[in-house]
Amino acid sequence: MKIIKLNAIDSTNTFLKNMVSKVVVDDFTVVVTKTQTKGRGQMNSDWVVEEGKNLTFSVFSSFIGLKVEHHKYLNFCVSLSVFEALEALELPNLSVKWPNDILSGNKKLGGILIENTLKGSNIVSSVIGIGINVNQNSFPNNLPNASSVKKILGREFDLDVLLENILKNLKGYFNLLERKEYNLLEEAYLKVLYKKNVPTMFKNSQNTLFMGKIIGVSKSGNLQIELENETIQEFGLKEVSF
Ligand code: BTN
Repeated sequence: MKIIKLNAIDSTNTFLKNMVSKVVVDDFTVVVTKTQTKGRGQMNSDWVVEEGKNLTFSVFSSFIGLKVEHHKYLNFCVSLSVFEALEALELPNLSVKWPNDILSGNKKLGGILIENTLKGSNIVSSVIGIGINVNQNSFPNNLPNASSVKKILGREFDLDVLLENILKNLKGYFNLLERKEYNLLEEAYLKVLYKKNVPTMFKNSQNTLFMGKIIGVSKSGNLQIELENETIQEFGLKEVSF
């Protein structure tokens, strides 16, 4: 495993993707930086970090025989790896908000951006970007739901140790993925899924509010919600918020 440590870069995902397009990159190459000038989040959002305070990195991983139709299990692996590393710090009420936000209570501590390279019906490799608010002291007013490990637990944590633990977990989970232990991954993910089976208010893409409860993740990776009339509806990332 190769770890490239940088002080500043636009985005570790962008950097690693560029690198992969130009040279042969070893499996499990990691790029970690103290700060990003153009960090990217889900759905074209920005990911802004306080310099040197947070864990901001990307991992390159190649896969053999991983079908695009099984992409949700890759997501489960990454979410669970981060979840378990944070769980070891004894953060209260940790969960994974579908698809892969890491929460303590209802505060977001971390996010994941997975960018896959496909060949036919296979995922041949991924750049997995992970951002965790570890030692950040404060957040801008426009991010009322963001928090950090330090804000919750009241002390600072070593970024290198956390990185090492997440990478160790990822290796373990990718082993399960390679062995096609899909049921096991699904079970582990559903156990930690935020608001699972809890009556919740959702908003659809037309801004209409509705009640329902999350019951799982569909084959294609969509969120499955049981509505009040007991029918089950599937929602993609852009189709629902809660
Ligand atoms: C999200 O919750 O919207 C996903 C955030 C992902 C942020 C990480 S930080 C490291 C990597 N580089 C990026 O530009 N984004 C990811």
